[in-house]
Amino acid sequence: MGQHTFDVQRAAMLNDPSRYRFISREELLSTLDFIPSKNTIVTIADIGSGTGFFTDTVAPYADQVFAIDVQSEMHEQYRTRGCPQNVSFITAEAGQLPLDDAALDCCFSTMTYHEFGRYCSIEELARVVQTGGRVVTFDWAQSGMGEAGPPCTERYGLSHVIERSSEAGLKTIRAETRTETFVHVAKK
Ligand SMILES: C[S@@+](CC[C@H](N)C(=O)[O-])C[C@H]1O[C@@H](n2cnc3c(N)ncnc32)[C@H](O)[C@@H]1O
Repeated sequence: MGQHTFDVQRAAMLNDPSRYRFISREELLSTLDFIPSKNTIVTIADIGSGTGFFTDTVAPYADQVFAIDVQSEMHEQYRTRGCPQNVSFITAEAGQLPLDDAALDCCFSTMTYHEFGRYCSIEELARVVQTGGRVVTFDWAQSGMGEAGPPCTERYGLSHVIERSSEAGLKTIRAETRTETFVHVAKK
C-alpha cells in the first residue's frame, strides 16, 4: 500500500469540480470546526495539498493556510492556477514538517493518506496541532469499488488511521466509511 506519489503529469485531474461528489466543501469545513474570530489568528495546514483544490475551499475561512506537499511541482501548478493571498507553500514530507509544536489550529488531508500512511505521519501531525485542534483525514476506502482514485490494493482502511491516531495520542471523534471514501476526525 501507499507505494507511489501522485504523478504531476496528471495534476490537472485534481482540479475537476466533479470531485466534490466525494468530499463536498460543506463537509470539509464542518469537520475542521474552527470559528474565525477577529481576536485570534486561525492557522491551518493542508497536508499533501497538490494543486490546492481543497486548500481553496478552506482559505477564505482562515487567516493563514500552509499548503504542504512533498512535490514542489505541485506547488508550481497551484501558483500557476492562482492561489489566495493567505496561502504559504511548504515543500516537505508529511512525516517531517518544518513547523513548531502546536503551530496549527488544525490540519487536514484529502485523498493523500494512502500516499503517506506508511510513515509515522499522524504522529507528526499530532505534534504540530495545538491541544484541542483537529487532524482530519479524508481518503479512498480500501473497501470501495475502485470507481475512482487508486486501486483498492493501494488504499488503507479506516482502522489503520484510527490505530495510528490512537498511538499518536489523538482521540477519534468521527470515523465513517462511505461508498468509496472514508472520513476520520481526530482531536488532540
Ligand atoms: C492524490 S494527490 C491529492 C492532492 C490534494 N490533497 C487534493 O485532494 O486535491 C496527493 C498529493 O499528496 C502529495 N504527497 C504524497 N506523499 C506525500 C508526503 N509523504 N508528504 C507530503 N505530501 C505528499 C503528492 O505530491 C500529491 O500532491
